[in-house]
Amino acid sequence: MKFFLDTANTDDIRRAADLGLADGVTTNPSLVAREGRDFEPLIKEICSIVDGPVSAEVTAEELDPMVEQARRLADLAPNVIVKIPVGEVGLRAVRLLESEGIRTNVTLVFSPLQALLVARAGASYLSPFIGRLDDIGHTGMDLVEQILEVLANYDLPSQTIVASIRHPLHVLQAALLGAPIATIPPQVLFKLLHHPLTDTGIERFMKDWNTLLGRNR
Ligand code: E4P
Repeated sequence: MKFFLDTANTDDIRRAADLGLADGVTTNPSLVAREGRDFEPLIKEICSIVDGPVSAEVTAEELDPMVEQARRLADLAPNVIVKIPVGEVGLRAVRLLESEGIRTNVTLVFSPLQALLVARAGASYLSPFIGRLDDIGHTGMDLVEQILEVLANYDLPSQTIVASIRHPLHVLQAALLGAPIATIPPQVLFKLLHHPLTDTGIERFMKDWNTLLGRNR
């Protein structure tokens, strides 16, 4: 499974990249707003840190301005993926942009049928939001399972990015389902390395080792 970072924070992206754990990055308007920086220079900086796909989301809502904004974003760097919300305008934009060779990531996917339509439109990536479904009492991961099955049934090449991940269990469930990509908030990603038994295990080894050193002194 590929690990994308779900953040616009360049320090966290650099830290994950140094660990070899930044196969790509996804941003959205909320994540960019959190950084308080100008959008386009920020995307350019992120694209210079990671070689993989970096999603930058359009904010225009009508077709022509959306496509224009998407083209401008795609010009920022070769690894920019234009993120587009699912819907009628979004679907039209995806068809047009993908036919021009601009890769898209369709976001805010909450049903397997939305995913099917998006994949048929030729989106390179689609992002089901798991945590937001869990938040309203659904089992978000069921959506991922259904999407993977539908795409496989028809050999549709769009790649599923499991999004809106809230905790390590979501990452495990995505991996067990064989999801190709999970986009993970940094605070969840860095937690994956830790286990309390690893910490107490190291502590005990060091205590025993130091006792041996003291005995042989
Ligand atoms: C995905 O591309 C989105 O940026 C993200 O996963 C949304 O997650 P949230 O529901 O935690 O805002």
